[in-house]
Amino acid sequence: MGSLKLQKAPTFDAEISFLSALVEPKFTFGDSNYFTFEQMQEIAVNVPAYYKNRADTSLNCTLPNGDIVPRVQQTEYWLVENDDTFIGQIALRDFNLPPYLLEFGGHIGYSIRPSMMGQGYATKMLKLMLNKLNKTEYPYVLITCNEKNKASCKVIEKNGGILQDIINSKYSPENKTCRYHIKL
Ligand SMILES: CC(C)(COP(=O)(O)OP(=O)(O)OC[C@H]1O[C@@H](n2cnc3c(N)ncnc32)[C@H](O)[C@@H]1OP(=O)(O)O)[C@@H](O)C(=O)NCCC(=O)NCCS
Repeated sequence: MGSLKLQKAPTFDAEISFLSALVEPKFTFGDSNYFTFEQMQEIAVNVPAYYKNRADTSLNCTLPNGDIVPRVQQTEYWLVENDDTFIGQIALRDFNLPPYLLEFGGHIGYSIRPSMMGQGYATKMLKLMLNKLNKTEYPYVLITCNEKNKASCKVIEKNGGILQDIINSKYSPENKTCRYHIKL
């Protein structure tokens, strides 16, 4: 591993690398929902505009069960290696979560580009994110993951995550959802 930094997305120096990640098979920002060709084209045309749009809380988003809900305030970061290589993405939401995110989604969501998985990057990325947090603002964080996503469960546990419960969330009806707390 080279020098790793979390930088507010998108960063100009890593944009070309991000575009190369976007076309890797099974690249995703969640644990499903791969990008369609049309979505990739839309992102590639103007990456900063895409991120600006994602941060627009006047817009809605669609949950895995089809519910349409208002977007919450979140800050997205890229994990960048040696200043110009995009490795992954992590999103931090404001501490006060709406009910659906308390059930499915939590405070933090992340993904690693497929070609870089299995090398410890997600564990490191979550650690860097937790280190950025102010303990008064975030006395703990809630992170949820699909019970079958063993890699993500491990990433959370290796960062001090304590399993609170495993629920059947209507927002992710296909799978059970593990809810972890990490005390800061
Ligand atoms: C989940 C994800 C972020 C893990 O990223 P990663 O960089 O591969 O994770 P790490 O390399 O830090 O591995 C963490 C642990 O998971 C283990 N692991 C990796 N892939 C695994 C798999 N398929 N099954 C079981 N364990 C796995 C690793 O061995 C490691 O444990 P170890 O240190 O004891 O060996 C990545 O697979 C991903 O982006 N998936 C798609 C998006 C997603 O699921 N996001 C999480 C939503 S909650």
